[in-house]
Amino acid sequence: MAKYSLSNKTVFITGAAGGIGAASARALHARGANLVLTGRNASSLDDLARELGEKRSLSLPVDVTDRAALQNAVAHTVDRFGTLDIVFANAAIGPDLPATIATIDPELFERIIEVNLLGVWRTVRAALPQIIANRGHVLVTSSTYAYINGAVNAPYAASKAAIEQFARALRIELAMHGATAGVLYPGWVRTQMSRPALGGHELTTRMREVAFPSPLATAISPQVVARRAVQGIERRAPRITVPRRWQPVGILRGIVNPLSDRLLSRHAKLQLLLLALEDAARTGATRHAQTIAKPVASKTVSS
Ligand SMILES: NC(=O)c1ccc[n+]([C@@H]2O[C@H](COP(=O)([O-])OP(=O)(O)OC[C@H]3O[C@@H](n4cnc5c(N)ncnc54)[C@H](OP(=O)(O)O)[C@@H]3O)[C@@H](O)[C@H]2O)c1
Repeated sequence: MAKYSLSNKTVFITGAAGGIGAASARALHARGANLVLTGRNASSLDDLARELGEKRSLSLPVDVTDRAALQNAVAHTVDRFGTLDIVFANAAIGPDLPATIATIDPELFERIIEVNLLGVWRTVRAALPQIIANRGHVLVTSSTYAYINGAVNAPYAASKAAIEQFARALRIELAMHGATAGVLYPGWVRTQMSRPALGGHELTTRMREVAFPSPLATAISPQVVARRAVQGIERRAPRITVPRRWQPVGILRGIVNPLSDRLLSRHAKLQLLLLALEDAARTGATRHAQTIAKPVASKTVSS
């Protein structure tokens, strides 16, 4: 397939205020694209628009759960740039701290599904007439959580698996129009969202270290994800896995998943951490849980 040039294309990106979204916006802009930067934090979006230069960027505060606001934002995009060629549905939330299905706040569970699944659906649906008319591209930010076990992160993992299915279906449905869709699968990335698991919260960090083998637990920068996302859009790639060390897991998921589920359900250290987590959730005694978890985890690391 010929390279899909980004020069003078207009990209509508959600969750553009920071992390992977902001890094991708910068990388897309450097390739000559016009950027429509959306998110909830207007001042961060404005700062990024100023940095990129307002000639080829537009900051639009939009909540991805608001269907009407998304439709207005798409109309505004077309008014301003005359076209919308690429939609990058990247916004998402996760639980600030890990929680089991038995103890997670039900409202938080449903909010995560609403933002991460329905927000992607509403974003893409609003942009789709333009994408089809312009033979454009849709990229959704899923996660390796689309296919690994989502224990203590179930609504997030469920939402990421759901949007993987959404984008795969969309790719087939768009083929007859000459448009394309792809899925971005980042592993661990150093952003605001992953901060608790990357040292910001002791128990959460220990769970990541215990549950993931070390090459997979290692985090990369959002700039690395952005670079691969741009290359993937230019190839209209169906899948972009970053870092590449996750690719064998994705490819062999039919074999790896039953084995890892079996291993994790019998993993004594992980089960003790889960007990500590549920204990903390039920009693509200986070500090108590951390003191239980710490010796358990340090024993396991050294054993
Ligand atoms: N970090 C990782 O390890 C990792 C791994 C795999 C996949 N991902 C995925 O990568 C994507 C970007 O996440 P990130 O890591 O860059 O974290 P991040 O910096 O927290 O970015 C998430 C973005 O989503 C936006 N957002 C949240 N709720 C929204 C809403 N209702 N409406 C509009 N925007 C909303 C936030 O913008 P506001 O602050 O303006 O609301 C924020 O800019 C997400 O889809 C995430 O699931 C991340």
